[in-house]
Amino acid sequence: AVRNIVRKFFLGFVVIIFTDLLGKSNMSWYEGPIQIMNPSIPYQARIPGGAMPGKSVYVQGYVPHDSEGFSVNLKPHGGHNDDIAFHFNPRFNEPDVVCNTCVDGSWGSEERHPEPLQRGQAFEIKIKMKDYGFKASINGETICKYPHRVSLNDVDAVSIVGNVHVNVLRAEGGTVRSPEVPYIGPISCLT
Ligand code: GAL
Repeated sequence: AVRNIVRKFFLGFVVIIFTDLLGKSNMSWYEGPIQIMNPSIPYQARIPGGAMPGKSVYVQGYVPHDSEGFSVNLKPHGGHNDDIAFHFNPRFNEPDVVCNTCVDGSWGSEERHPEPLQRGQAFEIKIKMKDYGFKASINGETICKYPHRVSLNDVDAVSIVGNVHVNVLRAEGGTVRSPEVPYIGPISCLT
């Protein structure tokens, strides 16, 4: 019996060493999409690993018949709660998509682009993070290349606000930046 106990103890020790080595191994990071289906709006989520050039946020949804507009917002952490690095705001009571930045609760100067969307339409919006800024498209058509007004390093969340139905919200691409080790993958970050 004593020998059995010693053997079990030894096996447990080997397992501990093995998992420890695995933890320190040169693992590659998960780079696939992280998505949520049918989030209730308004919705806010962390972007797993934060924002960085090469990543993008994808939204597939539908504009209700009574919508006045909605926005997809890329937000910095740690600042004023209302801060928005990139406010992408299709409007239906005006003929424009409005883009802007909000710092310390104050809006900057608006960029306006012709509104390609209509009420009652399904859409895909993609916001790509680039070195120079955010490149946003609606249904594959580039709407704007919006130069960064706040550092992309500070951006780590996305929100969707207004009258819109969202089927899919997805963070795509990139790798996890400066993860704390031990790190448990990004799967849960977008919920
Ligand atoms: C304001 C509006 C905000 C935001 C901003 C963009 O008039 O209340 O929600 O869209 O314009 O410049």
